[in-house]
Amino acid sequence: MLSSLRATASRSLTRSLASQQQRGFKCSVLGAAGGIGQPLSLLLKLNPRVTELTCYDVAPVTPGVAADLSHCSSNSKCTGYSGEDLKKALDGCQVVVIPAGVPRKPGMTRDDLFNTNASIVKNLVAACAEACPKACLLIISNPVNSTVPIASEVLKSKGVYDPKKLFGVTTLDVVRARTFIAQAKGLDVNKVTIPVIGGHAGTTIVPLISRAEPKVSFPDAERDALTNRIMFGGDEVLKAKAGGGSATLSMAFAGAEFADKVMAALDGKTGITECTFVESTVTSSKFFSSPVTLGKNGVEQIHGYGEVNAYEQKLINDMLPDLTAQVEKGIKWAQENK
Ligand code: NAI
Repeated sequence: MLSSLRATASRSLTRSLASQQQRGFKCSVLGAAGGIGQPLSLLLKLNPRVTELTCYDVAPVTPGVAADLSHCSSNSKCTGYSGEDLKKALDGCQVVVIPAGVPRKPGMTRDDLFNTNASIVKNLVAACAEACPKACLLIISNPVNSTVPIASEVLKSKGVYDPKKLFGVTTLDVVRARTFIAQAKGLDVNKVTIPVIGGHAGTTIVPLISRAEPKVSFPDAERDALTNRIMFGGDEVLKAKAGGGSATLSMAFAGAEFADKVMAALDGKTGITECTFVESTVTSSKFFSSPVTLGKNGVEQIHGYGEVNAYEQKLINDMLPDLTAQVEKGIKWAQENK
């Protein structure tokens, strides 16, 4: 009698533990041997939601990067691919993060990368469309304001475009805004939230300081300097690295954070809202970053940017023509380069 009770209790405990177990994801990093790709792959290898990680890069060192990562004692498998093996890396993936392409050198704008990175993103996304058409694609490669629209056109031409599953990663702008505000006000950065909207290049990055939580306020000159630092945070790193690259470690951190949020939502966790650059009707720009609630199918709800003050509204109005032009440039290029 007692032993049968124990067996029943143990079975129900096993069942309840199994039901609590989170779903495992197969993820891929394309551009995995690069400055962002390597630390991003490390962070994803350590993420308990990831059960399988594939690393792809044109660089022949990539299988070695994956071999190195595979020795980390986390419960995920890690394999590396280079050259012609892209589709093998993508097969069955649910989440693909793309930091492939050239980064800026001092003095360059993100748009200066367009000519090189447009075709890189086009070819990688075309392979995703064939090998893992239902995957969430997280685009890091710059200029994000144009590469995400390019990705959408490529997916459309392959007949697999789902706007709920295509994201431009703008998390680094939010990460910078939270960090700089926390530092300025002596706050715990983990408790600071702030929407950063628009795009991911210079003045198209609009931090809504009036909407930060906890509430903060600054004299106008300090607010202007802080806004400028968030908009041009990438330049600060470029300058400090003196020709040695652009932001890589902070981007890997931000990319891994965003990928984790996407996976948590795919797994059924509710109430996750993040700023990300998606196809949008919030403004006249066809793609726009604003708070987006994530769900089991990717984008669940795109929110407007809500109430802003006159200063922030002017920043939005002033940058919208530039953002729209960068989005349209991507769409046009993709349509002309099918
Ligand atoms: P990196 O040059 O260190 O690494 C790029 C990697 O991409 C290299 O390993 C290269 O071999 C690989 N690659 C090039 N063509 C490829 C292809 N066709 N397929 C697969 N891999 C390919 O550059 P880094 O610093 O890692 O930056 C990567 C991109 O991320 C740049 O475009 C940069 O501007 C962008 N970026 C985006 C940020 C964002 O907030 N969204 C922030 C910082 C950088």
